[in-house]
Amino acid sequence: MAGGKGRLIIVCGLPGSGKTPLALELAAEPGAVRYSPDDWMDALGINLWDEDKRDGIEQLQWQAAQQVLALGGTAIIEWGTWARSERDRLRLGARALGAAAELIHLEAPLEVLLERTRKRGRENPPITLDMLEKSSRSFEVPNAEELALYDPPAKVRSS
Ligand SMILES: Nc1ncnc2c1ncn2[C@@H]1O[C@H](COP(=O)(O)OP(=O)(O)O)[C@@H](O)[C@H]1O
Ligand SMILES: [Mg+2]
Repeated sequence: MAGGKGRLIIVCGLPGSGKTPLALELAAEPGAVRYSPDDWMDALGINLWDEDKRDGIEQLQWQAAQQVLALGGTAIIEWGTWARSERDRLRLGARALGAAAELIHLEAPLEVLLERTRKRGRENPPITLDMLEKSSRSFEVPNAEELALYDPPAKVRSS
């Protein structure tokens, strides 16, 4: 994967918004690597609510992702990235490596997110509607000004 121009793809959204299926689809491209904290936490037997461990894993994933970008690969970050400042940091980091940066925001009604996360059953204790309501209030939805800072998608997606 050396030689090409790297590409960062940030997939942001609340739990259950569909980040993982989309990231899996994007990661099927040659030279693409997907970074999911939930998968690493599950593999290590860490509770998904452990925010300190999640932060540590995200830092490790970002170090690895930057190496992928420097090599000209595609790094797909599916952390949730609720905060604009967090997305800014990733975008600027990618650009500093000469990589393109793409932002995808996924959303669905809170009742749908609740139903999906219940069915998925990965969180213990499960996510509640009250938590989702609080999360949606803290989530900084990308506005037109922010989206304009990113590159257009490299390829048409099925979803
Ligand atoms: N657009 C969708 N339509 C139907 N089910 C979906 C959709 N997006 C996600 N799901 C399902 O909902 C569950 C939770 O979504 P997930 O993709 O794990 O959310 P996220 O990765 O954003 O937290 C998964 O089991 C997934 O298969
Ligand atoms: Mg996921």
